[in-house]
Formats: sequence, structure tokens, C-alpha cells
Amino acid sequence: MYRLTFLFRSCFLFFATLQTVAGFSQKKTIDQKIDSVLKLMTLDEKVGQMNQYSGPWAHTGPITEQGDFLQQVKGGKLGSLLNINGVQHTRELQQIAMQSRLKIPLLFGQDVIHGYRTTFPIPLAEAASWDLQAIELSARIAATEAAASGIHWTFAPMVDIARDPRWGRVMEGAGEDTYLGSQIAGARVRGFQGKGLGNIDAVMACAKHFAAYGAAIGGRDYNSVDMSERTLWEFYLPPFKAAADAGAATFMNSFNDLNGIPATANSYLQKDILKGKWKFKGFIVSDWGSVGEMVKHGYVKNNYEAALAAVLAGNDMDMESRAYRNHLAQLVKENKVPVAVVNEAVKRILKKKFELGLFDDPYKFSNAQREQQELNNPEHKKIARDISKKSIVLLKNENNLLPLSKNIKTIAVIGPLAKSKMEMLGFWSTGWPDSNYIVSQYEGLQNKLGTGAKLLYARGCGIEDSSRNGFDEAIAIAQQADVVIISVGEKRDMSGEAKSRSNIHLPGVQEELIKAIYSTGKPVVVLISAGRPLIFNWTADHVQSILYTWWLGDEAGNAIADVLFGDYNPSGKLPMTFPLTEGQLPIYYNHFNTGRPAENDRDRFYRSAYIDLSIHPKFPFGYGLSYTNFKYDNLKLSSATIKDGKTIDVSFTLTNTGKYSGEEVVQLYLRDEVASVVRPVKELKDFRKVFLQPGESKQVTFIINKEKLSFYNQKLQWITEPGKFDLMIGSSSDDIRLKQSFELNGN
Ligand code: NOJ
Repeated sequence: MYRLTFLFRSCFLFFATLQTVAGFSQKKTIDQKIDSVLKLMTLDEKVGQMNQYSGPWAHTGPITEQGDFLQQVKGGKLGSLLNINGVQHTRELQQIAMQSRLKIPLLFGQDVIHGYRTTFPIPLAEAASWDLQAIELSARIAATEAAASGIHWTFAPMVDIARDPRWGRVMEGAGEDTYLGSQIAGARVRGFQGKGLGNIDAVMACAKHFAAYGAAIGGRDYNSVDMSERTLWEFYLPPFKAAADAGAATFMNSFNDLNGIPATANSYLQKDILKGKWKFKGFIVSDWGSVGEMVKHGYVKNNYEAALAAVLAGNDMDMESRAYRNHLAQLVKENKVPVAVVNEAVKRILKKKFELGLFDDPYKFSNAQREQQELNNPEHKKIARDISKKSIVLLKNENNLLPLSKNIKTIAVIGPLAKSKMEMLGFWSTGWPDSNYIVSQYEGLQNKLGTGAKLLYARGCGIEDSSRNGFDEAIAIAQQADVVIISVGEKRDMSGEAKSRSNIHLPGVQEELIKAIYSTGKPVVVLISAGRPLIFNWTADHVQSILYTWWLGDEAGNAIADVLFGDYNPSGKLPMTFPLTEGQLPIYYNHFNTGRPAENDRDRFYRSAYIDLSIHPKFPFGYGLSYTNFKYDNLKLSSATIKDGKTIDVSFTLTNTGKYSGEEVVQLYLRDEVASVVRPVKELKDFRKVFLQPGESKQVTFIINKEKLSFYNQKLQWITEPGKFDLMIGSSSDDIRLKQSFELNGN
């Protein structure tokens, strides 16, 4: 009897499996196919799909058994792995998964944050380009390379709004502004997912960290977040909504608690908002270990309770906590978790595997020839150079020291980052051992100037250390040069996850080095490579020219040389406010007005000000210079009032009045003068990047619609209220060139 049942079951499973993996009739919808697989799955197999482990090895080397994870793959008890890449490894693991009873393919995830083989600028740098097409293209290339290397899923974009540069993860997002951040969120999702899942060059995007992780108290990573519902909805959620609207396949929740509830067990965020109100159809993965970390939060007693809280709150996949692996089946058996909850999560996960095409061909992304081609595609480096130069921000250019002439005879190149390669890459770069791929700043200068100019080099000092021993040598070469380029900044691991800093001044004695070189009287250009806004007030007040070059990736050196010598006219604008000191933090341009605003910097007596410090930043949001000048004039509104849900056109003339062709990022800000809740002093509502030849003028037109005038009222309704609005158009949040008011009549 037992043998007969066994035989019958085996035959059924055999045919069912065949049907599951290969023989799906094309006529079935994906949902029907998912249902047929789900019917065959045991509870253990279902729970297995809801787990993700980190792979046991890096880029090279054999598969090493670690713990029981290979057994789990073979037993069909694992849904996904992260940190497994390369065609060879992903194929080997997929082969093991294909030995399992139902042959459900594995998903391979990876942090492809700013490029894969080709390292692109960090996301904060790319945000400084304000060039949505370029940003989308950068994500597209990253996806193309990653997909060719067996990866199905990137844990990007990070769309957390960040107002405090002490938080190391500012490097990974688009900065402080909700409008710019939302535009970039959409662009990056579209870039990663290309023409859609199922295409050979598309990877699943993952909008993270849901939600409000960027508001960690004190800028300390993993810290709690406490914020009003209005701030959450108005400032922190829109980029997530934009990512969902752009079709992000997955979301990741976050390490923080939000108003006392850990995001991982936050059903308001995950079920009510994301899967409910926003109708998100993908799946949610926890952050690394965040299910288990709820024990440390003091929210649950143990992993058993953690699994219960997370799954009931809508967290579909457990990354690395093993709380689901070890407790979820038991929770179902004890009727604490309805099996329908598990089914729902598994369906969401399987759906993505179907959409990627993995059920049709689990090795689809494991083609060695394609991997070779895409990882050595010279076009990708060209594209990286392009977005890199667009990401650079010209902070200062006294007496038009820049661009430098290519006929300069002797240039002194000084500083700890001038010859560095790895430090150009930034925190989330994939650790390729081949540094030939990376162009240092020094090499960029060599490439640009050939043998035409003499380059003298001295390191001067380290990035963090306190020794001034190298200063004399640096001064000596500066004295022989026509111009000095000093390259300073942060090491690659000084901004990023778990890299919060209380002191964000230029580290070590780097600013002392700048002072020493400056005292030679030679013209000085300072390059600052970093993952966050830094403080360098002496430098900003004294040296002639400063380029903020962030961490630009493989093509850093070439892109910087393009800008230094005028082959590209810088067009970047800061996506985050640069503070005067840490004491101002958090600081952001779109703050609310107070009842006692300071009129100016001397206005400190019983004002919303500091008695010992300016309230103004060093460099404001949206700031960035060009080698040319732009004139804004001729502002026209198609009407002075908006009524009945209509729109008005706002147009003006932008003219390049300087000697160089170049791009200007024109920024449109609005202020609602009086409303039922206090409104920000200004908010970015649109922007355009406009290219002009010297002497050329263009008319720029913006459309003001109801959406741009809406806000959340006290009841959290997204509404407009009649009244007066100030319209401000300018070159930065603090450099408004054109201003006018209009009325909204009716709602
Ligand atoms: C933790 C980080 O917070 C998250 O952003 C990342 O995707 C995961 N680790 C996986 O590496």
C-alpha cells in the first residue's frame, strides 16, 4: 500500500513538475501558473521561498559548503541568495536548485548601487547632475552588466530623503529634496528594469528603505525615527510612491523603528500604504537581519515572535535572519499565521520568478559569452565618463581661474587622493581586483595633456593621519608650478552604511595642507572627493577654485580632467545643503517658517536663530557654478490666477551671456503664502536642464498645475486651498532671479 501510494505520488509529482517547469501552456496566465505551482508545494517549500541567505563566497573560487545552505537549495527550501554573482556561480547554484523536487529557480540579488563592472558615480553625485536621462542610462548600464553576470535583482534605488550629512548613507540616495528625489527614483527604477522584466538585460529594482530610514535621529545609522505623519507623507514617502509608480518589482523595509514600530513589522507602512493604498504587486524583502533585530529593538521576545510580527505585517521575504526558516512553518501549524498569508507572500515571490522568465529557463542569465561581452564593453566606460563630468559641481571660481589652459607648462598635483584609484570608487562599488579599470585623477591629467605639460606630484599627507611630514615636499613642488591642483577628501569607506560621522570636516590634516600650499601664493584649484557634504570653510573662503567631485567611479580622472580644462563646462548643482558647521544639522532649504524668522544673519535677538552661529549654510541646495553666465528675464505668466482645475504657463527667457557654451539647471520653487497648515518657505516643484551656446537665448516654459499646489492638510488629505502663491525661478534655492505671485481661485 505504502509503495503504491509512493509510486502514485512520485508519478504525479513527476508530471506536475514537468508541467511546472517546462510544459506550461502559453495560454495560461502567470497567475494560473503560480496557482498550479503553489498547489504542489509543501508548507516547508513555501516557507523556503520566503528566505534569502547571503552566499558563502565572493567573486572567484569554488562553491564551499557552508552550514546547511546547499542542502536547503537541493531540498527546495530556499527562495533567494544575495552576494552570488558571475555566470559560473549562479549557474552552479541554479543546477543544485534544479535537483530539488519542484525545480523552482533561485533568485540572485546583489547591491548593484552605482554600477556593477563599470563603477558609476555614487547616487548622490549623479543626483547633482539633475540629468534624469543620464541617471536612467547609468542604471541601465549597471543592469545590463549585472544581468549578464547572472544577477536578477538589485537592491537599489535607495530613495531615502536625507537631511543630515552625518548619516553616511546620504551617498546612496538623491539628497534632501522630495521632488528631485522622486524624479530620480523613477528614472533609476526605469533604468534598472529597462523594457521590463523578462528582457535579458533587465534586473528587478528594489526601492529602499521603506520607510523614513533617512531620518535616523542625529544622523546615526540604524537609529530610531520619530516623525509626524505629515512629514512622512509629504517629504519621505513620495520618492517611494514614484518608485512604485515606475513599476519597482520589489521594496525593502528598513532597520529603523518609525514612531515606535520597527519598519519590518509595520503593517501600516507595508500593508495599508504600500500594498493597500498604492496597490503594489511586487514583494517586500526585509533588510539584512531586520526581522531578528526586532528582538534587540525590544519589540518581540525572540525570533519566533519576530517571524510572526514580520509576516503578519506584510514582510514577504526574510533576508538573513532565518526567523522564517526556523519558525514560520511552526507558526502556521499552531494557527498563529494563516496559511493564506504564506500563500500570498509566496505568490508574490513566484510571480517575479515567472516574470523574469526563470521558470522557462533558469539559466537564462548565465551565459558566459554575454557576460564577457557586457563586462568588457568599452561603450560603458564612455557613458560613465559622461555622467561623471555632469555630476561635478563647481563651488568657486574666483577670477575665472578655471578652465585651465592646456598650454600650462608645469602643474603640481598634490594630495592623498590624486593618485588613488580605489578611493575613487565609493562605498558600494563591487570589489573588482583589477585597478587598471580605474582612472586616477593623476592619470586623467596625463591622458588629457599627454607630454605637453610637466606634472609634478607629491602626496602631501594621508587622508586621515596627523603627520605633516610630507608638507615640505608638497610646498617645494608647488613653488615650481604654474598652477597647483590639490586633491583631498574622504576614503571610500568613510561614507556609506554604518559610516555615520559626528565630525564631517575634511579629515586629518588635509585642510592644513591646503593652507600650506596656498601660502606659496600659487593659483590653487582644490578637488574634493567625498560621499557626503563636507565642511571646509577655510578652503571655501580662500582658495580660488573648488570642484566638488564626489566619488565618481572608474572614469573619475578623465571626467575631472574634462572639467578642469574646459572640455566640459560644469553644470552640476548640489542636491544637499552644505552646512557651515555640524551644529546646524539637520539643515535643509525647504523648512517651515517660524513665527520669529531671522531677517538676516545679525538678526539673532529673540529670533529663531543661534546666538553663536549663522543659520545660513555654506552652500545652499541647488547651488553650482558654470564657466559661463546665464541671464534670466522676461518672466510671463499666462494668467495671474488659476481657476477651475486649469493650469497656467510660466515662461521666461534664459540667455547665455558668457564665453562658453554650457548647461544651466533652472529651478522653479513655490511658496504657499497662507494655508491651514504651515508651509515650507519654498519648495522645488520643477526644473529643466538647458543647453545654450554663447549669446544664445531660449524660452523656458513650466506648467503650474493643481498637483504642484497641493499639500497634506491636518487630516492628511492631499488638497489645495485658494490663495496666493509665490513663484520663484532661479539658479539655486538661494539665488532666485525671477519672482511673481499668482492666485489660486477655488480648490
Ligand atoms: C543592508 C543594507 O541596509 C541594505 O541597503 C542592503 O541592500 C543589504 N544590507 C544587503 O546587502
